[in-house]
Amino acid sequence: MSKKPTVADFFAGIGGIRLGFEQAGFDAVYSNEIDDFCGITYKENFGIDPKGDITKINAEELPDFDVFVGGFPCQAFSIAGRKLGFDDTRGTLFFDVARILKTKRPKAFLLENVKNLEGHEHGNTIKVILRALRAELDYNVSYAVLNAKDYGVPQNRERIYIVGFRKDVFDGMFPFPGPSKRSKLASILEKNVPLKYFISKKRLAGMKKHRARHEAMGHGFGYEVLDPEKTAKAIVVGGMGRERNLIKDCGSLRKHEGDAGFEAKNDECLRYLTPREYARLQGFPDSFKIPVSNAQAYKQFANSVAVPVIVAIAKEMRKELVSSKKQTD
Ligand SMILES: C[S@@+](CC[C@H](N)C(=O)[O-])C[C@H]1O[C@@H](n2cnc3c(N)ncnc32)[C@H](O)[C@@H]1O
Repeated sequence: MSKKPTVADFFAGIGGIRLGFEQAGFDAVYSNEIDDFCGITYKENFGIDPKGDITKINAEELPDFDVFVGGFPCQAFSIAGRKLGFDDTRGTLFFDVARILKTKRPKAFLLENVKNLEGHEHGNTIKVILRALRAELDYNVSYAVLNAKDYGVPQNRERIYIVGFRKDVFDGMFPFPGPSKRSKLASILEKNVPLKYFISKKRLAGMKKHRARHEAMGHGFGYEVLDPEKTAKAIVVGGMGRERNLIKDCGSLRKHEGDAGFEAKNDECLRYLTPREYARLQGFPDSFKIPVSNAQAYKQFANSVAVPVIVAIAKEMRKELVSSKKQTD
């Protein structure tokens, strides 16, 4: 039996939350993720296939674990005329989180979500979630919005973190970790970036037109070039996500002079961030393997978490778990 506290990793994605908990001294004993491509990355890095649909899990059959962790997709609850109970969340993925907590009664949980969860459906979504966790499941719940840039990665990524403890384990105010350190975007940039990451003259001309059109309409939409001395914007899936995090990198581009395709590249040396740079923006170590296509990799890292924020929270959670164990031993 593991002497370390244990976690079960739900909505596991590529295991960013698991990685953070492992770095904070936990052992993972279970993983669940529905997406096959995330499964490939997960297996390559953690040696197990997390394949599964949370809605199909029989909670009674799960192994025991100390902490439930998961960044569940945010969905609306149909609450009109209801009493905002746990049963009203039926049919959403939060319902599956709640029913697993109800059956397994782990000592603690960490739920991660977009900052917008607070304002979602005029505040009703978070209200239903907190009520289910507090009033019906009887956990001591705290939440905070933390920004990844305050924990050592150069990314402006605000996320909501909901931490709960079984009241017999910890019934005080959870001390969310405060800002620790800052870093600059320059510190995560690759040095020799392949030509394919540089934008073609033709594409850049199209992007400029697009930006001008939106500016004329009074919108701020369009590509953006980052200052390496500052932080990146939050990496997100789809839309203008990659265009809003461009880098001017004449050093790398010049090394490709004379290569096939060089002439077609833009003269301003603008390029996209690479999948490895996405990984670094989320605090994944360079030993983390990327076995999928670039399109999948961008999506997987954008959907993942800033690992150092998870490490900081998990360390605080571990302190409470360890001190409660000492009291009961
Ligand atoms: C925001 S991502 C979480 C990413 C994860 N925290 C990480 O570090 O990579 C949510 C994940 O939930 C998964 N998911 C959605 N529906 C699911 C279901 N029914 N069962 C299991 N996983 C599901 C998605 O495939 C997605 O990877």
